Amino acid sequence: MDSILVRGNGPLSGQIPIAGAKNACLALMPATLLSEEPLTLTNAPRLSDIRTMTQLLASLGAEVTALQEGKVLATSCHGEINPRADYDIVRKMRASNLVLGPLLARLGHAVVSLPGGCAIGARPMDIHIDALAALGAEIELKEGYLHANARGGLKGAVHEMRFASVGATENFLMAATLAKGTSVLKNAAREPEIVDLARCLRAMGAQIEGEGTAEITIQGVDRLHGATHPVVTDRIELGTYMLAPAICGGEVECLGGRIELVESFCEKLDAAGIAVEETARGLKVKRKNGRIRAVDVVTEPFPGFPTDLQAQMMALLCTAEGTSILEERIFENRFMHAPELARMGARIEVHGGVAKVHGVARLKGARVMATDLRASVSLILAGLAAEGETVVSRVYHLDRGYERVEEKLRAVGAQIERVKGE
Ligand code: EPZ
Repeated sequence: MDSILVRGNGPLSGQIPIAGAKNACLALMPATLLSEEPLTLTNAPRLSDIRTMTQLLASLGAEVTALQEGKVLATSCHGEINPRADYDIVRKMRASNLVLGPLLARLGHAVVSLPGGCAIGARPMDIHIDALAALGAEIELKEGYLHANARGGLKGAVHEMRFASVGATENFLMAATLAKGTSVLKNAAREPEIVDLARCLRAMGAQIEGEGTAEITIQGVDRLHGATHPVVTDRIELGTYMLAPAICGGEVECLGGRIELVESFCEKLDAAGIAVEETARGLKVKRKNGRIRAVDVVTEPFPGFPTDLQAQMMALLCTAEGTSILEERIFENRFMHAPELARMGARIEVHGGVAKVHGVARLKGARVMATDLRASVSLILAGLAAEGETVVSRVYHLDRGYERVEEKLRAVGAQIERVKGE
């Protein structure tokens, strides 16, 4: 397993290109199941999760061809479709559950393995099941697989979700595009990735209104046609790299970034003493002056502070002046980076979903272990400003969501390299 070696060093400067959003692309790719015509996705990120989704879609009979070194995905699904998404692939990536809605809409039935839990939580599927059942699907769990049937096809319905689940919103949205009649989803997730999926489905001929708000209306149509769609910029990669100059000084421009993607995150950066300027090409970030100030953070569904930036924000606050309170309200176990940061000298008290971070003057490099995707990159950020050398092991977690992280950071002056594992 590879490791990443980081040496604490001085201020960074230069530009970091931000890729297309992993979490948008993982919802856009299954949309190919909704049409017999090809769907082409441009600005696609080059990540292991995208390769996993490619594998899954291929097992269902869809074709995904990576062009232009993986930045363009040509997908199509016009032949025989296999309705069964196997545990062996689904267990590797929870987003595999996003084939459930499209398969139901296209075929009227699906057999999709439950994804199982992961490091950050149990991650059940009840909200997905309730939402698709509202459209007329009968879903039962047998031997770890969801067996879903919609005899006579899906029918439009009004449904309110108990929680604004991102994945359940995406499954409902895709299923409702081909349901008979009108559907209204209430308490819908509002993430930019939902907006991006709605735009892509509309380009395919779907009739959707209200994406980005808590109420989305979908008028079912008989069929969808092909389209070409650009994947939206990855707001989580954006926020992650914005923290690099925040943590170790200097000024970095994140190309492709827009304030609207990270508004609540930028409010917290401003309070902590970080200046963010929107330029024609992206977001320019630098520390205002002096030491970072402690801030309190609560993770919430969009437009609140993103849970996927909580670990990275904690890395920044480890060396802030004062004590910060981070409350994780989305996942039940998303502080596994805390004990690893403590190995670097951070002072963090975790009680349930709340972490109290007492700022220290400087962290010290150490050997640490990545436990999940966002925790792994928070350790790299901490290593950028720590005294001495930090070695982050198990970086396969990192490669799921960040392409060429060491190249992007080295380009702005970071001392970072990948050490090939056995
Ligand atoms: C998406 O996961 C993202 N993944 C996650 O990013 C992100 O953290 C999450 O949304 C929240 O923003 C992708 O888009 C591929 P949810 P998703 O359904 O859709 C509970 C990353 O690092 N829940 O909004 O699975 C669930 O357990 C990943 O890129 C139920 O209880 O998130 C969690 O506690 C990590 N029942 C909360 O809701 C359900 O049926 C949020 O889940 C569904 C979810």
